[in-house]
Amino acid sequence: MKLTKTFAEFQLGWPHMHYVFAVLCLFVVVYKLTILLAKRREALRNFQAFSGPPPHWLFGHVLEFKQDGTDMDKVVKWGQEYSYVFPIWFGPFLSIINIQHPDYAKTILTSSGVRNVLLICLFCCFPHSCTCSSGNGLLVSEGQKWFRHRRLLTPGFHYDVLKPYVKLMSESAETMLDKWESYASTNEPFELFKHVSLMTLDSIMKCAFSCYSNCQTEGGTNAYIKAVYDLSFLIDLRLRMFPYHSDLIFHLSPHGFRYRKARQVTLSHTEEVIRKRQEALKEEKELGQIQAKRYLDFLDILLFARDENQQGLSDEDMRAEVDTFMFEGHDTTASGLSFILYCLACNPEHQKICRKEIMEALHDKETMEWEDLSKIPYTTMCIKEALRLYPPVPGIARKTTKTVTFCDGRTVPAGQWFYSVVIIKE
Ligand code: HEM
Repeated sequence: MKLTKTFAEFQLGWPHMHYVFAVLCLFVVVYKLTILLAKRREALRNFQAFSGPPPHWLFGHVLEFKQDGTDMDKVVKWGQEYSYVFPIWFGPFLSIINIQHPDYAKTILTSSGVRNVLLICLFCCFPHSCTCSSGNGLLVSEGQKWFRHRRLLTPGFHYDVLKPYVKLMSESAETMLDKWESYASTNEPFELFKHVSLMTLDSIMKCAFSCYSNCQTEGGTNAYIKAVYDLSFLIDLRLRMFPYHSDLIFHLSPHGFRYRKARQVTLSHTEEVIRKRQEALKEEKELGQIQAKRYLDFLDILLFARDENQQGLSDEDMRAEVDTFMFEGHDTTASGLSFILYCLACNPEHQKICRKEIMEALHDKETMEWEDLSKIPYTTMCIKEALRLYPPVPGIARKTTKTVTFCDGRTVPAGQWFYSVVIIKE
């Protein structure tokens, strides 16, 4: 009785509760801001030896990037102006050091005090998926985990596994070309990238999960495909809008809500595909048995992968790897293919030679087969040159875990983000 009374005495009325809540919020905001400001001060201190383009106090360099195809040129120009190593700010708190010189890139890529971070395409001419959506898959994992997963997944890239994919990709390309025929008859111009992107997504879904989605013809109506595009867009948007760098603000925003919804769709899809395949594979004891009946897809490789202790991947790891392949596999190839087609269109004399070479390799067949790929060396050279001129992944990101010293004696402490950009020689 006494206890209840004491508790009641301490209970506050509604107006007081509002007051307490407001003070609590204020406290959290001040606390967060103090941490961010301390981090900013520390970054500015670290950058003292690295001069760069002056940032806006609030937007940093975000407003300099117009996403009109000139962003990469701007970064290359800054590199020449500021000795190939300079800071870039995304808002007042998030910064990276941009590297454009092979000697500095070598330090970052060979140093033990550096780890992989999310692959973020800051300067791509095309929108590019980041991997925040793909969990801790191969691309962003590190140390023993990366080593183990890499060993488990390497069989997935054996020629015998890849060979049947050529036919699947040819089928996807045919669907795309059928759509293009209708444009050709009307002479109507169209944006090529979205078609190529749907085609690569279609291909990766067949190769990774044996999943025939009809995404090229159904396009935006497929919930999973829509969610994949939503995630790509929202991750890119989050990087560019500095208030969204805060997990809390992003979480509470409508974009954060849309992100979680899309993430849930992709997650449920991946889980469902894995579950169904686990059911279907109950009878099968080894990969050879499946390979005798049908082609192996990436999911089979994942489900049968065992390390030296006969341990497989956990469900969570499996989901992360499937998502990594989905995101890494379709956007990079779509960007690469689009630029290859662009380069061929700009250079009709080379296009003519490629066409002749391919027609000869095909003979009277409709589509290319694995064995034909070695018969088109000139086309292969053109593909490689286009990838060199317009790399789908123009840079990679790393984060220091220890102090790193560059060849010129300048040092960077642990915790600093780097972005290494490839410089293309025309
Ligand atoms: C033209 C197409 C592609 C380009 C230019 C490209 C580029 C790259 C680059 C530069 C990296 C290293 C990133 C880093 O070190 O931070 C990487 C890693 C990776 N890529 Fe790709 N990629 C392409 C296609 C693909 C495809 C089709 C897949 C899967 C189906 C894929 C899956 C991966 C994975 C899993 C990793 C991480 C590998 C590891 O850390 O062991 N990529 N890619």
